[in-house]
Amino acid sequence: MALEINRLGGALGAELRGLDLSDPLGGNLLETVRQAFVDHSVLVFRDQTLTPEQLVTFSGLFGESVPHLLEGFQHEENPKIFLISNVQEDGKPKGAIYAGQYWHSDLSYMPLPALGSMLNAVEIPKTGGDTMFANMYLAYETLSDTMKTLIADLQAMHDYTHAYDTVFSKLPGRPPMTEAEKMKVPPVTHPIVRTHPDSGRKALYVNPGFTAGIVGMTEDEGRAILEFLFAHATRPEFIYRHQWQPRDLVFWDNRCLMHRAVADYDMAEPRHMHRATIQGDAPHQ
Ligand code: OGA
Ligand code: MN
Repeated sequence: MALEINRLGGALGAELRGLDLSDPLGGNLLETVRQAFVDHSVLVFRDQTLTPEQLVTFSGLFGESVPHLLEGFQHEENPKIFLISNVQEDGKPKGAIYAGQYWHSDLSYMPLPALGSMLNAVEIPKTGGDTMFANMYLAYETLSDTMKTLIADLQAMHDYTHAYDTVFSKLPGRPPMTEAEKMKVPPVTHPIVRTHPDSGRKALYVNPGFTAGIVGMTEDEGRAILEFLFAHATRPEFIYRHQWQPRDLVFWDNRCLMHRAVADYDMAEPRHMHRATIQGDAPHQ
């Protein structure tokens, strides 16, 4: 079957049909997939049941695979696969249960944030549990020239503990971070506007989850500008909302998108995903 590429929305996203990702991508298929990733930022592959090994191999075509910061939710066959899951085993969730229920870009709190992430849906609820993606190229491009000039050379602080303080600490069963855990994720700074290494386009690179302030501004000034940018970047016309089908594999670009999980499903229904994370480079202006 020939490869078919169908756009999934006005803002971003495409579905690639006709590929079995458990097989090596022969001929120029890898190049086609790479180009589609640059063009659409979210790629959806239907009907993929990859073993942990196969998912790590596929993600390895795009960069080095990085294990997740949180321990205890790795796949038992391969620690590079992280489990996002509400499925319980012996009264404990098998994976991270309330993952990503706020706009964020994966690992933006690290000096080398994630290039991209992949989720392969093993089990999904009958309804709900979508994942939303916001196009940060469009968010940048639709700013006024005056705002673009204001933020052109600014750096923002990214801090994992910010998400912990504002989001995670309100979730059930999340004890406060220990000092030892905090030491592993000291705050980092990244440019507010980053140039994508493959497309050459500029994208906004701040997110409500992890961006804690703007370097050189008071907390109030930074917060006001960030709140504006967050509201602007999440306008409906910049968003693709993915409604999962069983066995979907979704691959997204963290360098030009934010994403968030939508927690509107019945927790009695299993939602179980395998996730691979791909190391990126240091964001540059
Ligand atoms: C993630 C994430 C969202 C979801 O895996 O990085 O944010 O919908 N997941 O599970
Ligand atoms: Mn995420």
